[in-house]
Amino acid sequence: MNPFRRHFLVCITNRPPSVQHSCGARGATELLAAMQKAADRKGLRELFGTAVTGTTCLGLCETGPNVVVYPENLWYGGVQPENAREIIESHGVEGVAVARLLHPDVDRDASENAS
Ligand code: FES
Repeated sequence: MNPFRRHFLVCITNRPPSVQHSCGARGATELLAAMQKAADRKGLRELFGTAVTGTTCLGLCETGPNVVVYPENLWYGGVQPENAREIIESHGVEGVAVARLLHPDVDRDASENAS
């Protein structure tokens, strides 16, 4: 059973900057709220079976805020709240990733073959 056709996982881990980089310290909570608001506005869950969920550390803390999208296994890096609407409308609704926001350090070969 797949509860969602697509799932956006937004890292919202927050650490003091003196300890380690974290997405939460770079605006991830605001990003998650903006993505969920945009998703609600577009009826993403009801119409497209797509969810936006906050999650803990995804392991690429230096380049956050990070978002990973399943089932494509596509990663966005350095995402800001002002990018939320574009990601939701393009990737969430149209199924087209926002290429300029994709994480530069994540191999896309596997995800390109996943669709
Ligand atoms: S804190 Fe977000 S990836 Fe580690």
